[in-house]
Amino acid sequence: MTAYADFYRRSIDDRDGFWAEEAKAIEWNTQPQQVCDYSNPPFARWFVGGTTNLCHNAVDRHLKDRADQAALIAVSTETNTEQVYTFTQLHAEVQRMAASLQELGVQKGDRVLIYMPMIAEAAFAMLACVRIGAIHTVVFGGFAAGALASRIEDASPKVIVSSDGGSRGGKVVEYKPLLDDAISQSSHKPSAVLLADRKLAVMNIVAGRDHLWGALREKHLNAVVPCEWLDSTDPSYTLYTSGTTGKPKGVQRDTGGYAVALAASMKHIYCGNPGETYFSTSDIGWVVGHSYIIYGPLIAGMATIMYEGLPTRPDGGIWWSLVEKYKVTVMFSAPTAVRVLKKQDPALLSKYDLSSLRALFLAGEPLDEPTAQWINEGLDKPIIDNYWQTETGWPILGIANGVEKKLSRFGSPGVAMYGYNVKLLDENSGDELTGADQKGVVAIEGPLPPGCMQTIWQDDARFVKTYWQSIPGKMVYSTFDWGVRDKDGYFFILGRTDDVINVAGHRLGTREIEESISSHPNISEVAVVGIADALKGQVAVAFAVVKDASGLVDAAAHAKLEAEVMKVVDNTIGAVGRPARVRFVTVLPKTRSGKLLRRAIQAVCEGRDVGDLTTMDDPAALQQIRDILS
Ligand code: PRX
Repeated sequence: MTAYADFYRRSIDDRDGFWAEEAKAIEWNTQPQQVCDYSNPPFARWFVGGTTNLCHNAVDRHLKDRADQAALIAVSTETNTEQVYTFTQLHAEVQRMAASLQELGVQKGDRVLIYMPMIAEAAFAMLACVRIGAIHTVVFGGFAAGALASRIEDASPKVIVSSDGGSRGGKVVEYKPLLDDAISQSSHKPSAVLLADRKLAVMNIVAGRDHLWGALREKHLNAVVPCEWLDSTDPSYTLYTSGTTGKPKGVQRDTGGYAVALAASMKHIYCGNPGETYFSTSDIGWVVGHSYIIYGPLIAGMATIMYEGLPTRPDGGIWWSLVEKYKVTVMFSAPTAVRVLKKQDPALLSKYDLSSLRALFLAGEPLDEPTAQWINEGLDKPIIDNYWQTETGWPILGIANGVEKKLSRFGSPGVAMYGYNVKLLDENSGDELTGADQKGVVAIEGPLPPGCMQTIWQDDARFVKTYWQSIPGKMVYSTFDWGVRDKDGYFFILGRTDDVINVAGHRLGTREIEESISSHPNISEVAVVGIADALKGQVAVAFAVVKDASGLVDAAAHAKLEAEVMKVVDNTIGAVGRPARVRFVTVLPKTRSGKLLRRAIQAVCEGRDVGDLTTMDDPAALQQIRDILS
């Protein structure tokens, strides 16, 4: 067996021995008594009896060896600011934030919702929460009031941390009015709101509820707030993600298992060393931002770059200039970002000294071969695809170069990562597909390894039903992705089995978009599908049935209604959910039992064969869509 094959086998066959070894990479206040308690499947409890703290492992433990080294590098090409925080400075800021949250009443187990742009204060807030045992819920700053309100409702935060605004492409995006709107829509009200004032917009301060970070920070300048020793299985955070139903799911993560999983991945997969710099271009609102902007790099003792701005401003070389300036060794981005850069001057790729950079990791959506090839040749660096989900927190499929050097294969995110007992299953029978090149659902046999979701926040039943009972006859975790595996164990991901779409690496539920569109007074019914797009991977397209079509007399009337519908989505979900097109029809294709045939609509839009339509109620419905498209 090769070194990796052996390593992988051990992680499955001697699960507890393997992870007991990995657990030594983090600092515990009390050593775990039991590696994995899987007595109540599918609920896995990792490192039972151990106590630790994520903030201790990300910040405090490094004060001994690297107090004056960079920890957080906050760069904004929107406000033209750059600030480097050493571990000592980060430690001080986090304690100021922790003391401020405590003053606002936050205690262990309370939820704190963070709705912020990519600024250092967002990192302080996340680290401050886990320091005191509060559970953070970061909501992507691009989400609008409706999406934010449903997350406030579900997480019931005691405090919300936010800001006057962010900026995108030189345009200020005000956060405070959206936040106020979301709080008024939610039946749960936070007792306090803590606001970072960047002086980008004037804030309407609600007396008694709203507090300014600047003032509280001054008050707690010398704060000493020790880390709370948490049980390994205590939740560290929840992060909402989309699924088949309209209601987003709060993915709940533990403390000790997550710390161990990230430390292991930094060593075996990303190969980042203490004292080096990591640059992930994601956003803290997504899982990549949690694992590989904040916790992973810091736990590894690396400096991490937080970047606010576009990849193309002031020009398409900005990211590479940061690699040169901060001697970035490991970089992480998404295929869409590379496709955006591909439209820029290729000379920008060779303008800077990139000798520090060892590899560029890409994840979040399928990496097409031309994009991989272009960036590989342009940078002359290994491009490493990796496949995972909000639910898992770290790669399911990838290449573990820290264990054994292997090359990526174009089009494949790699082989099963250690700890994941990955199977391909037949969708209908649940039978395992062991042969090469067979298409099946990518599934994982329990227990999920450390770092993966514990449950859905406040909804164990939904966790079991959604993830573990979707494949007939087996209790196995479904990723809801189609995949095939070649004879060498390399997987290829073929898209989602459910109604989730992936737009520019952003995971969206088509049902959420449909619910938003249905709130327009003149829409009675709508189907949203994801269709292939050369730049964004997929875009959302909506087919809507209007209640009163009498006004739809010409193209201008169609365009007006289309713009109105898009505006509704902008205001409820945010521009990330806005469909690229909204088309109006008189009927939608459905089965005789009334189920929307989204896959058939998608196939028509992408010019593919629609397959078996014997259960379709009214074939004219699909013909209408064909006619519109032609
Ligand atoms: O469909 C898969 C796709 O993105 C989904 C997970 O999205 P999210 O929860 O936002 O987590 C992203 C973490 C990187 C998956 O179910 N996906 C993710 N990575 C890849 C991918 N599809 C193909 N190749 C990948 N490398």
